[in-house]
Amino acid sequence: MAEKILEVRDLVKHYPVTRGVVFKKTIGQVRAVDGVSFDLHRGETLGVVGESGCGKSTLSRVLMSLEPPTGGQVLYKGRNVATLKGGELRRLRRQIQLVMQDPYTSLNPRMTVGDLVGEPFEIHTEVAPRGSRRRRVQELLDLVGLNPEHINRYPHQFSGGQRQRIGIARALALRPEIIVCDEPVSALDVSIQAQVMNLLEQLQRDLGLSYVFIAHDLSVVRHLSDRVAVMYLGKIAEIGTEEEIYERPTHPYTQALLSAVPVPDPTSRSQKAIIRLTGDVPSPANPPSGCRFRTRCWKAQDVCAREEPALVQRRGTDHPSACHFAEVREIVATHEA
Ligand SMILES: Nc1ncnc2c1ncn2[C@@H]1O[C@H](COP(=O)(O)OP(=O)(O)O)[C@@H](O)[C@H]1O
Ligand code: SF4
Ligand SMILES: [Mg+2]
Repeated sequence: MAEKILEVRDLVKHYPVTRGVVFKKTIGQVRAVDGVSFDLHRGETLGVVGESGCGKSTLSRVLMSLEPPTGGQVLYKGRNVATLKGGELRRLRRQIQLVMQDPYTSLNPRMTVGDLVGEPFEIHTEVAPRGSRRRRVQELLDLVGLNPEHINRYPHQFSGGQRQRIGIARALALRPEIIVCDEPVSALDVSIQAQVMNLLEQLQRDLGLSYVFIAHDLSVVRHLSDRVAVMYLGKIAEIGTEEEIYERPTHPYTQALLSAVPVPDPTSRSQKAIIRLTGDVPSPANPPSGCRFRTRCWKAQDVCAREEPALVQRRGTDHPSACHFAEVREIVATHEA
């Protein structure tokens, strides 16, 4: 197994809920991320999947050290990133980069593509000395499949897919080891999604990158992911290899998500295998007691309200799942996006 490049240990991020305008009073906590642990190995892709609001973007911001965690740790090559200072912190910021969902809102419309892609060099001058920057930016544009001659154009002169390529070039500028991709293709047309996914896959192969790849749909991450973590209300419901999660899911939530993945031929799936996820996701400010999924789970028993299920491997299963009654259930064939 390759080196552990990132270790996430019981990570917690709560946001205070306040009332009042002048005298703000904290009346509760939004438990956006509530005890998440996983490893990321060099060169691997960990898919992180869950419905909107389950804490994926919060997780990405804490991984990037853009926000401090409320609890727990992120270890980069065995070192707690919260303890890094000065030059070490700067080096860490080089090594972990973020690609966000909406390239248009994350790119300054008044900057040229050359300025946008080269901006990281202003802070990390050691990566590209001033005289070599233009050439380096053109190399990056070429690397992501953009025309290097378009270096003086503005973001609005590019299509959505091309703008995401600009975002990727910018993330690559400092030659990072890890890229956190927060729903990088969610805002793109389906036909463009595959092109951007292929580019990310090729860049990973060529540059040896490690990815944390966030999506709200299991079908998006399947092809790219070595392992997948399924999140629900700030916690990991189930984590395993691509095969374990898609072929032998054991958590009722994962099973429901997979059952909801569209298949090209609706007659090919038996009715009894279809699990419909009903009801809304509860508020992370007031999560259900015990198992957080119990208000939407068709298997829920009394114990589920009393005891929180640990994320452990149970008898008859081959990977960790946070369900008291984790068991493999046959899921009808799903297809890849
Ligand atoms: N800065 C913040 N202050 C307060 N609540 C927040 C903040 N950021 C996110 N949240 C809340 O945390 C929860 C998780 O949000 P988010 O991480 O954006 O989820 P996702 O990316 O999975 O959609 C949501 O309930 C959201 O409203
Ligand atoms: S612990 Fe209970 S409520 Fe939670 S997923 Fe398992 S069966 Fe459902
Ligand atoms: Mg998000």
